[in-house]
Amino acid sequence: MLSKENIIKNINTKVLGRNVEYMYETDSTNEQIKRMASEGMDGLLVVADAQNKGKGRLGRNWDSPHGDNIYMSFLIKENISPAKAPMITIIAAMAVLEAVKKYIDEVYIKWPNDIVVNGKKICGILTEMKTKSEVTEYVVVGIGINVNTKSFAEDIKDKATSLYIETGKIADRAEITGRVMNAFEKYFEIFMREGSLRLLVDEYNNNLININRRVEVQENGSKYTATALGIDENGELLIRPDGDENVKKVMSGEVSVRGVYGYV
Ligand code: BTN
Repeated sequence: MLSKENIIKNINTKVLGRNVEYMYETDSTNEQIKRMASEGMDGLLVVADAQNKGKGRLGRNWDSPHGDNIYMSFLIKENISPAKAPMITIIAAMAVLEAVKKYIDEVYIKWPNDIVVNGKKICGILTEMKTKSEVTEYVVVGIGINVNTKSFAEDIKDKATSLYIETGKIADRAEITGRVMNAFEKYFEIFMREGSLRLLVDEYNNNLININRRVEVQENGSKYTATALGIDENGELLIRPDGDENVKKVMSGEVSVRGVYGYV
């Protein structure tokens, strides 16, 4: 059962997730945590059973019904260069991957931060931040994981899946939430010590579904095809555009990539 007590039981971090707020329903856990940010402690974790205004990337909605999934956001009160914020999203993807690997082997990252199973999305991550004098005052990492959903609406069922759909087993949402926090803190400490993803690049690339695959890159309204080679220490994706000898770096937020034949 998803409850504050069960979530706390599964968290063994030093800072992140030491304070947990559980809500039966909220508009969006990202919005909720932003409202609490000024008094909230570093690492505050907000988890809701449902969201009535769940937010996806690019202004999209994130469908967030009761009972089945994880909607979680946590607060990082560190002063980080905003240019490094995309790296936090990369780390969040690694943390979710590690958390769900316990339940399913064939799970991958689609650059920069989607988690995919069977060619479909099982998790989305939305990172937001507030800056003050050139550094972040706080960063909010919002994670939605499709855990026990039995079916998706017609318009998204080709693109979305859940752990239940893929394994036929109900998974413990409190346990997965705890596992995400534990893994995130481990990777985040390495990132903060190093100031880059240098020590995490190999692990990320080993789990990247796009690696050595052809992708369609959308950049400023134009599209071209390329081979994805993996990320560098800044989280940028290295690609070799078709018909070009040179390797090019692309940034999340500026471009999006998809498979040449579909989502991956
Ligand atoms: C995406 O579009 O892929 C990102 C989806 C992020 C959804 C999560 S659910 C918890 C948190 N609260 C929100 O309103 N959005 C994020």
